[in-house]
Amino acid sequence: MQVLMVSSECAPFVKTGGLADVVGALPAALKPLGVEARVVLPAYPQLFPLLPKGTEVAAFDDLPGGTARVVAVEAEGVPLVLLDAPQLFDRPGGPYIDEDGRDWPDNHIRFAALSMAAARICMGVIDGYQPDILHAHDWQAALSPVYLRMTGRTEPKSIITIHNIAFQGRFGPQVLGQLHLKTDWFHPEGLEFHGDLNMLKGALMYSDRITTVSPTYAREILTPEFGMGLDGVLRARSDVLSGLLNGIDTDVWNPADDKALAENFDAKTLKRKAANKAALQEQLGLVTHATGPLFCVVSRLTSQKGLDALLDAVPHLVATGGQLAVLGTGQRELEQGFKTAAETHAGQVATHIGYDEPLSHLFQAGSDAILIPSRFEPCGLTQLYGLRYGTLPVVARTGGLADTVIDANVAAIAAKAATGFVFSDVSGAGISGVVDRVVDAYADPKLWQAMQRNAMRHPVSWETSAKAYRDMYSDLV
Ligand code: ADP
Ligand code: GLC
Repeated sequence: MQVLMVSSECAPFVKTGGLADVVGALPAALKPLGVEARVVLPAYPQLFPLLPKGTEVAAFDDLPGGTARVVAVEAEGVPLVLLDAPQLFDRPGGPYIDEDGRDWPDNHIRFAALSMAAARICMGVIDGYQPDILHAHDWQAALSPVYLRMTGRTEPKSIITIHNIAFQGRFGPQVLGQLHLKTDWFHPEGLEFHGDLNMLKGALMYSDRITTVSPTYAREILTPEFGMGLDGVLRARSDVLSGLLNGIDTDVWNPADDKALAENFDAKTLKRKAANKAALQEQLGLVTHATGPLFCVVSRLTSQKGLDALLDAVPHLVATGGQLAVLGTGQRELEQGFKTAAETHAGQVATHIGYDEPLSHLFQAGSDAILIPSRFEPCGLTQLYGLRYGTLPVVARTGGLADTVIDANVAAIAAKAATGFVFSDVSGAGISGVVDRVVDAYADPKLWQAMQRNAMRHPVSWETSAKAYRDMYSDLV
């Protein structure tokens, strides 16, 4: 079985969030199940060193945005199909934004080119390669099933996976021609959304299956509260919608063998986790004699993540004897808010603004608990890393967070099942309330260690979900 994945990110090459982790790890998890997955990815500058090592397998002169070469190369165990179009992708900054944080003005063209190239590959332009399934991820890849259907073909079957319905790829109707899209598909039952082109909606209309990254989020997006305007479209197609929980790469995230840690540990040698706490505290300028738990945040700093509410709870968190370490980048006012909190509560609160992959591993290893007060969360990966590192997740009851963390209520504690703390009210008061519960549990070392061991035993690998994807692919072929 050959699956062509289409994505704008893939770890470890290019990553702004969990999408990259998923697309980077899923192919390896599918391989032992007999599924060969390749990933179509733009050749951003960080991928240039790979280009000479690969083979040019196709070339196009008529994509939106002009010409492109297609180069196949395997790297870090991921079979990549790179779209080499320097006029679109050879740029400083991030995959979507320039160095000043502004969206590239031609993002619609850049990702339409990616999507059209993928659709062409599905039509057999690469000698000896015919995908059985087109699997598109998020809005950046969402036009690929649309372009494929525009040719009149019904094969290969296509899947769109929604990692975050907040991002839809919405552009004015004037871009239709530029993107070679059929104007007679521009209507409310097709590509149109309130007068605009909506790329994600296009994929929801024209794909054979729709998946998202947790069962709870799959239900939530059917409601106006979480559907971001697309709940009606999803309700109409709910017969082909399912939620498959993300896993994590348990080799990359393995506390027993993680080069970024001060000391390695596992569930039997939990005491060694303390060396990581001391290293993290020292590195961040936090006092090392604190008696309360060290909470951490590793996150994009956006309103999705509820971190404005966390700022309101910081004084309470510090008053209970807790500490807070924040690693993140994003909205300027949140960056500033956490910098100010660190100045106000020096020694108890530390903020590292930036994106730092190795440091994120030390945060997971050295903290006692990881705070994720998201307003919505399709799946969330940092709570899974927390479980694996014995860093108890403290999460809002939403999306994949609700599906992966077992709250330390009386029944769960009695059943030796509790793995973290789940709360409902994303506000300063709500977070303060759950912080109190965490501080109390932390003061009971027997309970805390039992929860750490439960957490570290909790299955977080791709094993189950990779099989579910394989079954879905087989079903469609
Ligand atoms: P989202 O995709 O919504 O950002 P996820 O929890 O699915 O949320 O994935 C976030 C990923 O990005 C995780 O791998 C997390 O460790 C990583 N991450 C987020 N912010 C940072 C940062 N500042 N430095 C390093 N890694 C980060
Ligand atoms: C999105 C979501 C996050 C999810 C990730 C990977 O970025 O915000 O919840 O874990 O995609 O699927």
